[in-house]
Amino acid sequence: MAIILDGKKLKEKILENLKIKIEGFEKKPLLTVILVGNDPASMLYVKNKKMTAENIGINSEIIRYPSSVLEDELLRKIHELNKDDNVSAILVQLPLPKHISKEKVISIISPQKDVDGFTPYNFGKLFSGDEPFVYPCTPTGILLLLDEYNIDLEGKHTVIVGRSNIVGKPLSQMMLNRNATVTICHSHTKNLPEITKTADILVSAAGKNIIEEKMLKPGCVVVDVGISKDSTGRIHGDVDFENVSKIASHITPVPGGVGPMTITALMLNTLALFENSKKCL
Ligand code: GUN
Repeated sequence: MAIILDGKKLKEKILENLKIKIEGFEKKPLLTVILVGNDPASMLYVKNKKMTAENIGINSEIIRYPSSVLEDELLRKIHELNKDDNVSAILVQLPLPKHISKEKVISIISPQKDVDGFTPYNFGKLFSGDEPFVYPCTPTGILLLLDEYNIDLEGKHTVIVGRSNIVGKPLSQMMLNRNATVTICHSHTKNLPEITKTADILVSAAGKNIIEEKMLKPGCVVVDVGISKDSTGRIHGDVDFENVSKIASHITPVPGGVGPMTITALMLNTLALFENSKKCL
């Protein structure tokens, strides 16, 4: 049976240390989250982010807008937050409604407050092999988890299923930085199982229940980023956990794997931006 990559346990360990560190601060960091609309999943994620932040001494505020909000209003708010010295980190929860350009909204966040690492400045730094202010949260969380279990990436074939800006693309660069050989697959990839069969490490961020045991090489490491609800309301990932865990060497559960690590990375990034802003004074 595969070793479980326990994101919940690692989250508790990292956040306990962060909490102690933040207790010593005179001024606390402030994470500002912008939430547009009332998508239940986004509302839950944002609530969890705020709660986790406050549990470790990071101040957090959620600024909510109806889904009818105009793009200009959001842009004005972000300009205001960029200038506000009390705000350490800005997160615009995605997805945004269709009438708002997420590229435009993200691009005006100050790179020094861009806690997701999604602005063209930070993304460009990552892709050019230079240092961004912070790295995107989900890929960071995945690497923290692999490191915790001493899973080395050097020379390993990593297959990432999903090419999103949130997970697949930045993770590919971060894994290249660790000297992995990286293949990105997506919805147009032909012969997906032939490729996944060659993976030493498989990361699935497809948002669909697609990874079966027969698609994998015995002994591979499986990281499941997917999270969806089935018709009975049960949460599951992209991977057939029951059967895949019989042949993988390591596997992340859903829930309790990558999800808690994304929040952990968000807290680490908030702190990193806060500490960086003090250096700039
Ligand atoms: N929606 C789903 N994941 C994320 C994330 O990591 N950051 C933001 N801003 N929105 C998301």
